[in-house]
Amino acid sequence: MCGIVGYNGKNQAAAILIDSLKRLEYRGYDSAGIAVFDTNVVEVYKEKGRIVDLEKTLPSISGTVGIGHTRWATHGRPNKVNAHPHTSGNIAVVHNGIIENYQQLKEKLSRTGYEFVSDTDTEALAHLINHYYKDNLIDAVISALKDIRGSYAIAAICGSELVAARKDSPLVIGIGEGENFIASDIPAILKYTRKIIFLDDLEVASITPDGVFFFDTCKSPIEKKINLIEWNIEAAEKSGYEHFMLKEIHEQPRALHETFAGRISELEGNISFEGSNLTESQIKDISRISIIACGTSYNAGFLGKYLFEQLAGVHVDIEIASEFRYAHSSPGSLVIVITQSGETADTLAALREAKSSGCRTLAITNVMGSTVTREVDNVIYTRSGPEIGVAATKTFISQLGVLYLLALYFGKIRGKISSDQMKRMLVAMKMLPAQITRILNNKEKILKFADTFSSSSDFFFIGRTLNYPIALEGALKLKEISYIHAEGYAAGELKHGPLALITKNTPVVAIATKGLTYDKVVNNIKEIKARDAPVLAIADEKDSEIEKYVDAVIRIPTTEDILSPVLSTVVVQLLSYYIAKARNCPIDQPRNLAKSVTVE
Ligand code: F6R
Repeated sequence: MCGIVGYNGKNQAAAILIDSLKRLEYRGYDSAGIAVFDTNVVEVYKEKGRIVDLEKTLPSISGTVGIGHTRWATHGRPNKVNAHPHTSGNIAVVHNGIIENYQQLKEKLSRTGYEFVSDTDTEALAHLINHYYKDNLIDAVISALKDIRGSYAIAAICGSELVAARKDSPLVIGIGEGENFIASDIPAILKYTRKIIFLDDLEVASITPDGVFFFDTCKSPIEKKINLIEWNIEAAEKSGYEHFMLKEIHEQPRALHETFAGRISELEGNISFEGSNLTESQIKDISRISIIACGTSYNAGFLGKYLFEQLAGVHVDIEIASEFRYAHSSPGSLVIVITQSGETADTLAALREAKSSGCRTLAITNVMGSTVTREVDNVIYTRSGPEIGVAATKTFISQLGVLYLLALYFGKIRGKISSDQMKRMLVAMKMLPAQITRILNNKEKILKFADTFSSSSDFFFIGRTLNYPIALEGALKLKEISYIHAEGYAAGELKHGPLALITKNTPVVAIATKGLTYDKVVNNIKEIKARDAPVLAIADEKDSEIEKYVDAVIRIPTTEDILSPVLSTVVVQLLSYYIAKARNCPIDQPRNLAKSVTVE
């Protein structure tokens, strides 16, 4: 995810900006840049690639105020032109987040004579601030922010003025002696100061060498509290979380928010995608879809199968990528490959195989510029931000987010869902990030169950229909990070064999949310309880019946039945995490596994 730094003080800015940016490298990026105000002009230096590549190109730069950025591409390819800072006149801006209405802003600003050179949404912001600039930067920034829809953390300079603002993207201010700092994350500036102020949403800060002044978006002054940071750098990179996996689980509300940003208009009941050139008639003509993926991405695709079949009325074959190329069946008229990294060798081989048979292809991926994006006809980005923990968590949630959007979008075009249904679904989807936060804030019961059963050697996860892929994902998460043998099963299948393994020593996680198959899942739970196995149910918060049948219940907020798998996922992720933690496993780097599997 992009990183922002800023400096205004008594020392030369460039070296501090580069040093601080390096401390944000763990967030992942594909280009970097800085802007420093030197006497009369803002000098900008940026490069595609690593910060060391940028460093090599830098002349000696004088100037004591500046901003820096590491970009993780979302709008426009990862290249030098799209790298931040972006400028307009003497104003330079760095930005994290997504400006949802940038296209409209771009058109408006182009008409008034501003020239755009990049494909980024941020450039529109730079021109917009310039457009409003009269005699001071903070007023111009406040005016510009009023025109913006979307999420942002920004830092801007003009002359010796440095201004920061945030909405839905993190930003901290560091307080020094005769110098002050901005950063997306504490580790970037921890070397220089331990005094940190957290900027809150819709707050703006003016950073001078001698003080930092905070305002709301009407320019009324705000008092802020200084926090003294006691973590070390390593802990700070994880924002205080013990593992990247836990941090990434907690980033899911934001990841999903970014997945939906600018793509949903719930009032009109519309969905739009920036990277897909599938026409309405092509979507209407799809006779069959093949979804191809590996591991966690496969589990997301499996849920996608149910979604496309229920919402868009189109049959879906779900295929394991490493098997697909040896199958003798022909792929559907649309092939969707799902790959977080965009580099998984099995998935790329399957994609090439599918392309050779002439079908249309679409990739759902998290990494801009990855191999899959260069080989496929259409790309939809999950926009989860980089994932460092080997076990996929937030990227899975975002993959589900894209699949819901796509299935609804296809359903509308194919006349399978009414505009009222669409609006209802979109409203419910927009509530998911906040509902995930509620689960994250309420994890005591999950911890308790994890502690009680962390020494088990076998686990089962069961669910029917839409919850079956989540049972598979729960079992996959548990086995990869805790090394406990775990199986995900369609609940109705237990009695056809695996029930022989169920004893008082095999805990079962039953996903029993309300919906078409609820009563049947309850029957399956009774079969399990008759064999004395401990059962944890994941159930709707309004379900007053379920606790009669099980040993423990984790409640999830009420949503549309079809959306509940998103919320159940968070429970199985946390459960796996806490079991692995209780077993003292190396959670972020499980044995034998790699984040990107580039061999077949
Ligand atoms: C599990 C996990 C893997 C990946 C799989 C595919 O937590 O991360 O199962 O999902 O290796 O990787 P991508 O999605 O990069 O193709």
